[in-house]
Amino acid sequence: MRVRKAVLPVAGFGTRFLPATKSSSKEMLPLVDKPLIHYAVKDAVDAGIEQIVFVTGRGKRAIEDYFDISFELEYHLKFHGKDEIIEEMRQISDMADFVYLRQKEPKGLGHAVLRAKDVVGDEPFAVILADDVIENSSSGTKQLIDVFDRYHCSVIGLEGVPKEDVSKYGIVSGKEIEDGLYKLDNFVEKPKPEQAPSNTAIIGRYIFTHRIFEELEKTQVGAKGEIQLTDAILSLSKKEVIYGKTLEGKRFDCGSKFGFLEATVEFALNDKEIGQEFKEYLKGVMGC
Ligand code: G1P
Repeated sequence: MRVRKAVLPVAGFGTRFLPATKSSSKEMLPLVDKPLIHYAVKDAVDAGIEQIVFVTGRGKRAIEDYFDISFELEYHLKFHGKDEIIEEMRQISDMADFVYLRQKEPKGLGHAVLRAKDVVGDEPFAVILADDVIENSSSGTKQLIDVFDRYHCSVIGLEGVPKEDVSKYGIVSGKEIEDGLYKLDNFVEKPKPEQAPSNTAIIGRYIFTHRIFEELEKTQVGAKGEIQLTDAILSLSKKEVIYGKTLEGKRFDCGSKFGFLEATVEFALNDKEIGQEFKEYLKGVMGC
């Protein structure tokens, strides 16, 4: 069965970006001129995903408006003869079919993904975390779908991280079966460095068979007092093979201030319109 749907959990408070996220959504923070959520949806669409299921919460209306048609804006642009921008804005709402579900209480990533059970049904599906922006010619989701199409099993995006950072991630271990491809056997959410099974972290790209929902329904509160997706993956691994794929490309952790600033600088330097000027500016700031 083809992977046609992607679940994007976007209900988090974005506390690391307060006060910016006090009245607006973390996923709407821009990298140069597009919000983080745009990159996540593009990652899905570039992988052939047709339906995006957002699991939203209070204060996330800006995401719905972003992927909707704005008649007022189009009227304004038409009036000023900016037809090419109208076209660009329309392309955003035409990227996919968008579905919105509410996660009424902040009970964790596993709880958010479980909300999508009825919309996803019995199909394999992707999960994309907008915090993780991956810069590469091939979308992160596409890289995992390529593995899914070979084995028809769940596949998790991976990256090696420094030992001192393991407590920020879900950490896995397993057997490498070919370059960058693993059969995974252990999954621990945010372990202490001395308890981590490796320093290979889960990155916010996943493909799941629908059986993950049965495991999520049974998953108890885990790390940080939340229902963790990683705990459900561990249970699923007792019943089905789970693959892991080291993602190609540069990943930016835009859930942290530092990662967000790194991405901002690199995306600005690569921007066709302002890249060169920005580079000169940075050189001036750095005195080189
Ligand atoms: C989530 C997952 C974690 C994963 C991480 C990737 O954590 O729970 O397993 O490693 O995303 O970004 P969060 O960043 O929401 O704390």
